[in-house]
Amino acid sequence: MSKNIKKVAVLYGGSSKEREVSIKSGKAVEEALKRLGYTVDAFDPINKNSFLEDFRAFNPDKVFIALHGKGGEDGQIQSILDYYDVPYTGCDATTSAICFNKRFTKNILKANNIPTPEDLNIKEEVEFPLVVKPADEGSSIGVHIVKDEKQLEEALENLREYNDILIERFIPGRELTVGILNGEVLPIVEIKVQDGFYDYKNKYISERTQYLCPAPLNFVITERIKKLAKKAYDTLKCKGAVRIDFILSEDNQPYILEINTIPGMTDHSLLPKAAKVAGYSFDELVDKILKGD
Ligand SMILES: Nc1ncnc2c1ncn2[C@@H]1O[C@H](COP(=O)(O)OP(=O)(O)O)[C@@H](O)[C@H]1O
Ligand SMILES: [Mg+2]
Repeated sequence: MSKNIKKVAVLYGGSSKEREVSIKSGKAVEEALKRLGYTVDAFDPINKNSFLEDFRAFNPDKVFIALHGKGGEDGQIQSILDYYDVPYTGCDATTSAICFNKRFTKNILKANNIPTPEDLNIKEEVEFPLVVKPADEGSSIGVHIVKDEKQLEEALENLREYNDILIERFIPGRELTVGILNGEVLPIVEIKVQDGFYDYKNKYISERTQYLCPAPLNFVITERIKKLAKKAYDTLKCKGAVRIDFILSEDNQPYILEINTIPGMTDHSLLPKAAKVAGYSFDELVDKILKGD
């Protein structure tokens, strides 16, 4: 334990659609922090009336944010913690807000010549297949791959509750993800789903989804992807641990889909898998995220 961090508050749960995943991440983190010898308490912002009071009464040296989705990953909780001058893990409020919004992220990536699937305006002539997804959601919630006009209309109807819907070119190819831990690029993970795409079921439920780490890619492509991941991390001013999702097209062109600023920490999660291959146990990973700045 360094930097005099003794008391750690773990935030998990929350009221986003990723609540269940966040509870799993948070509990795993809480256990690890206890094994590491910290004084730990957990807080769930779903308790809207008592949350801040309880949490401020504990008076932590640092907050470990294990909240996924809206409210926890989008800069809101980060802003509140900034207001109270409480240090926390991961990206600052601004970077969190930008990365949580796939449209903002895409615009910044494009402006910096970092490849990302083209976004389309459906008022113009479009070619199928396309991907339709909320600009600000996660865990594949609301992601539709559409093959014709009718499916496009259905997808837009399904996503009525969202006020910004992103329409992207569908990139057929291999699914990769790259973890970065305090600036260190971890080995690439390849995800192989048995059927369909990497949707909620294939992410959290299916036992048949395969994860290969390090991804079986040649040296040149591996280095190219790692370099792009690091460039994106630096460009978006990320801190701590993030996980960047890629599609490697059939002609070996990498495209960044999104940057996850609070990567999953469950037993199915990809950042812990990549960290293990890099030589860090789960507890070491948690400790590095806690101490990172
Ligand atoms: N443009 C795209 N081309 C191909 N597959 C895509 C595209 N966009 C999303 N997907 C598929 O949907 C999954 C979830 O999309 P992603 O943009 O990473 O959002 P989420 O925040 O929900 O994880 C991806 O892992 C991939 O399988
Ligand atoms: Mg993703």
